[in-house]
Amino acid sequence: MEFDNAVSGRIYINGEITDAAVGIEHGRIKAIKKHIPGAKDYGERLILPARVDPHVHFRDPGFTEKEDFFTGTLSAVFGAVSCVLDMPNTSPFLYRYHAFEEKEHTASKKAVIDYGLITGIRNRILEEKVLKRSPALKIYMAETTGGVVNDLDDLALQYLLNMMKDYEKPVIFHAEDPKFMKKGEEKSLKEHLKNRPDIAEESAVKRLIKTGKPLHIAHVSSKDGAELLKNKTDGQTAEVSPHHLFLTLDSEFENPAYGKVNPPLRTKADRDALWDALRDGRIDMVSSDHAPHTIDEKEEFETSPSGIPGVETALPLMLAAVKNGLLDFKRAVEALIENPANKFCPQKGSIEVGKDADFIIIDMKDIRKIRAEDLHSKAGWTPFEGMDAIFPSSVYVRGNEIIKNGNFEGKKGFGRNLWMIKSAGHNRHS
Ligand code: DOR
Ligand code: ZN
Repeated sequence: MEFDNAVSGRIYINGEITDAAVGIEHGRIKAIKKHIPGAKDYGERLILPARVDPHVHFRDPGFTEKEDFFTGTLSAVFGAVSCVLDMPNTSPFLYRYHAFEEKEHTASKKAVIDYGLITGIRNRILEEKVLKRSPALKIYMAETTGGVVNDLDDLALQYLLNMMKDYEKPVIFHAEDPKFMKKGEEKSLKEHLKNRPDIAEESAVKRLIKTGKPLHIAHVSSKDGAELLKNKTDGQTAEVSPHHLFLTLDSEFENPAYGKVNPPLRTKADRDALWDALRDGRIDMVSSDHAPHTIDEKEEFETSPSGIPGVETALPLMLAAVKNGLLDFKRAVEALIENPANKFCPQKGSIEVGKDADFIIIDMKDIRKIRAEDLHSKAGWTPFEGMDAIFPSSVYVRGNEIIKNGNFEGKKGFGRNLWMIKSAGHNRHS
């Protein structure tokens, strides 16, 4: 063959499904042609770009009983993801270079797909050496798992956003305003919501949008928050997570703590408003906010940590939603695949010459029920049990078929930190 590898079939190119073939060389897309002799043909199945998930918590180092970089990335790739951005609330919290080195050391040995390590700020310290090697900066406006709050007044917020423009790194906000949060009794999802009411999100989102600066708002969860997004200015983006699209505080859970998450699950009206915002573009993208905790930790509602695993089920749930008429196919590809890549990892997320050869093979007729026992996260549970999903049968990362007919054929250590490579090379800040 004239290429290292090639695939052919019904391929998603420039917003359309086209009969074509893609030639791969050195892990990148080298050519797109009508026909390539010897290409692996996927017939009627769809070939889409793989997904970048810009919001996961893989717990490594520090909480590897919940997840580690191997199980996290394994779960991701079974869910059509070729690159994850891991959040800084591991232990040690990621903001110092020694913590970065430790996390990079463990991730580089265990990751089966590509990744980036997002930095945070603690005690007002943002280390430039870490930021340069990070895909983004995460700011926690309110307390959540990991216990870091970045209390920024308006001046500090403006200063930070101005400075971050020079680094060309997105700033991601956990948008809840602690001023409106309470520490009341918490024995049910209803009480959890009472402690973190809609107004907390509304206030934080309003404040962020008012800055007029580029930024990214994580996991929007309320009708009021979604409504405000119509005022987003240039470079401002927002995400929603599948649990806020598919679950409410009235959903039936095997264990109510499986629905305990920050920001909280809200009402059906909130859920419907999020779907509307996703359809009309106020919400730009879907990210999983994969936040695994063990079954034991989730036993007692009051003491249970907040967080829901979801990196493996995000795309499969959304494709089934397309099939069930909740979302247009093209909009789903934009929100799940193209937009996250454009914002956070532009070398992936579309099938065009020069991009990474990251593909997923999808049969839209292959609808299955989600079962916790079929998933690969260490969590071992899912609040999406029994829901419809369309999983990829194969996943390619940089031209390698890591999932082949539903089986894992990758290896630990194959995944690369894409931002390490850049900062060691021609990044103007290095
Ligand atoms: O529910 C949540 N869990 N929200 C967060 O912001 C953090 C996450 C976690 O790390 O468990
Ligand atoms: Zn998160």
